[in-house]
Amino acid sequence: MPADLSPIDKAKFVAAKRACTYVESGMKLGLGTGSTAAWLVRCLGEMVRDDGLRVTGVPTSRRTADLAQAAGIPVISLDEARWLDLTIDGADEYDGALNLIKGGGGALLQEKIVATASDRMIVIADISKKVETLGAFPLPVEVIPFGWQTSKALVEEALVGLDVMGTTASLRMNGQTPFVTDEGNHILDLHLTRIGNARQLALVLNQIPGVVENGLFIDICDIVITGYGDGRVTVH
Ligand code: 5RP
Repeated sequence: MPADLSPIDKAKFVAAKRACTYVESGMKLGLGTGSTAAWLVRCLGEMVRDDGLRVTGVPTSRRTADLAQAAGIPVISLDEARWLDLTIDGADEYDGALNLIKGGGGALLQEKIVATASDRMIVIADISKKVETLGAFPLPVEVIPFGWQTSKALVEEALVGLDVMGTTASLRMNGQTPFVTDEGNHILDLHLTRIGNARQLALVLNQIPGVVENGLFIDICDIVITGYGDGRVTVH
């Protein structure tokens, strides 16, 4: 373990390290995005360099592609890979049924496509990501830039009457300008506080014109590996 890690980084590192034990030579891997996934990429890079591990990675963002290349992991596109053995990614929240909120880093679209195209998805997270009910973390929804204000109004309208506790959406900003995803889209963050029926919400959101994808990952994750600040790990 790297020296002088803060408790939160130690938790992320040990979760990433444990996830590496699921990786076998010859695998095609989906590589997630975010600070926890970055630990995974570094750990895998060490295994490629020091242990002769042979894997190819499909990154879920330009950020992860750069990290993977720097770590010495051969990178291919999803179209080249077609199907993956395993995707390992972080999450913003996970519940007891292993449903997730993702997209805090703005990569939810590629993350969902890649995870869905995998035999298995493992989430790596520190214990702060565990929740009883999803929704305290603002739910990211990717929308195309054309008519985004109309899409926002339609999303807010659709939330009324659903089993959620808030109905406001805000456009994610990057300083003074709207945040732009790797696919050239914007993100609406939905302030819902509590999502009673995540499956229904995910379906409703994706029916709204202008919405490309939402950050609810329902029935996609198979295993959650949770790291703790004292170095402990649990697997569910
Ligand atoms: C990026 C994501 C990340 O997995 C999520 O935001 C968790 O990030 P971190 O590991 O930095 O807490 O969904 O779109």
